[in-house]
Amino acid sequence: MKELLGGTRITYLGHATFRLTTPGGENILIDPFLTDNPQTPEELKQVGDLDTILITHGHFDHFADAIPLARQTGATVVANFEISSYLQGQGLENVMPLNKGGTAQVGGVRVTGTHAFHASSIQTEDGSTIYGGEPMGFVVEFESGFKLYHAGDTAVFGDMRLIGELYGPDLALLPIGNRVVMSPFEAAHAARLLGVRHVVPMHYQTFPFLPGTPEELERHVRELGLELEIHVMKPGEELGS
Ligand code: NI
Ligand code: MN
Repeated sequence: MKELLGGTRITYLGHATFRLTTPGGENILIDPFLTDNPQTPEELKQVGDLDTILITHGHFDHFADAIPLARQTGATVVANFEISSYLQGQGLENVMPLNKGGTAQVGGVRVTGTHAFHASSIQTEDGSTIYGGEPMGFVVEFESGFKLYHAGDTAVFGDMRLIGELYGPDLALLPIGNRVVMSPFEAAHAARLLGVRHVVPMHYQTFPFLPGTPEELERHVRELGLELEIHVMKPGEELGS
């Protein structure tokens, strides 16, 4: 794994939140959910310097810390058009709208927005909900050529094969929680369609409505006869360490 990463560091902060550090030292946070994330180790709730924040969709468990962290760090926030507009309305200046199919060079990486079968809305402080545009996943390509795919919240879909064909990710971060995202069964098929050799399961067991387990994923992957490595990461752990 270390060789494949080519100097990229990937730290799991629990649920769907990952910190990526590029070989050039740029820090990227995907789906900032830290303060109220029951899986994030206390000592990692402060992430320090950030250059870029990627947001898959507006649900609280992917978005809750976005505004305070962007204000605190000055990081560029990459999100769909609706979330970008909302953030600009909140006074954030470094916002980069990106929609599905678009690729942008940001924070030392190339980021592509991909499809996701889910919903997206933003809960405001008064409890009302505003439209959050379409949910996304991201393909992130590092300077070493290493590529990861963060699926966001999604069901499995046939065009994951297209993501595999066009971008060939080395690693997929896949939700397995079931109920509100895909099940471990669907995640195994997602890995098959993507053709990835490495999978990190995410977005499970955080709340009672996310009962999926890595053991179920392993069973389905074995049943499909896939040759891939499942890396079960503990919150706070760095991949390949
Ligand atoms: Ni969601
Ligand atoms: Mn979610």
